[in-house]
Amino acid sequence: MMFDMDQLDLARSYKLLSSSIVPRPIAWVVSQDANGVANAAPYSLFNFFGGHPPVVCIGMGRPNGRDKDSLSNIRTTQEFVINMVTASLAQAMNTTSVAFPSGVNELDKAELETVTCSKISGRRIKLSPLALECRLQQIIDVKPSSVIVMATVQAIHIDDEYVKDAQRCYVDSARFDVIGRMESPGWYAKTVDRFVMPQPTLEEWESLRHDQPGLE
Ligand SMILES: Cc1cc2nc3c(=O)[nH]c(=O)nc-3n(C[C@H](O)[C@H](O)[C@H](O)COP(=O)(O)O)c2cc1C
Repeated sequence: MMFDMDQLDLARSYKLLSSSIVPRPIAWVVSQDANGVANAAPYSLFNFFGGHPPVVCIGMGRPNGRDKDSLSNIRTTQEFVINMVTASLAQAMNTTSVAFPSGVNELDKAELETVTCSKISGRRIKLSPLALECRLQQIIDVKPSSVIVMATVQAIHIDDEYVKDAQRCYVDSARFDVIGRMESPGWYAKTVDRFVMPQPTLEEWESLRHDQPGLE
């Protein structure tokens, strides 16, 4: 079946894409408004797009042409934290996705403690084993319904127990038990079921070339 994207309205187009491009990592964004009131919300239109400078992007919808609270805060303070979501934090993350009125601190609703950041003035979620302190670089308007927030990572906090070799920057990602977002309504994937397959060089691939069965 072929879906002609030109024929689809926003809701259908979004549903098709968000069910097709899976799993997606979840940026659990903590930001502050001008009065210092904290805000938390998950965003799965997220990834990193370069290592040096360390660039991350997040797609944020603008329902009815209005900024979500995270976007409004990022415009104001120019900074935010991306916390990674482990399976044990899934319910709390889901609570922070509720459309509470502006000014409500979702971190309180989800009973989440925060700690101060090192290079920005925001706060990060204490229980998240990995957090990225981010500074806004630019906001790209994707008219008429969303924006892409591009930011540079200023610092990464990783719980000591997951750092295998700090000098070489080896992280034991397997043990985070991070979750990814799948299709709607509300499906997620865990990352504990894994396999290893190093990317071969051309020489390795040519010397090993044989049947290429898929995974069982
Ligand atoms: C797992 C998950 C991922 C989400 N990803 C996005 C996203 O990438 N972009 C977006 O605009 N909304 C996304 N949402 C919806 C927002 O989290 C939701 O609109 C939230 O209320 C926004 O909060 P805020 O106004 O405090 O920023 C997601 C929701 C969930 C549960």
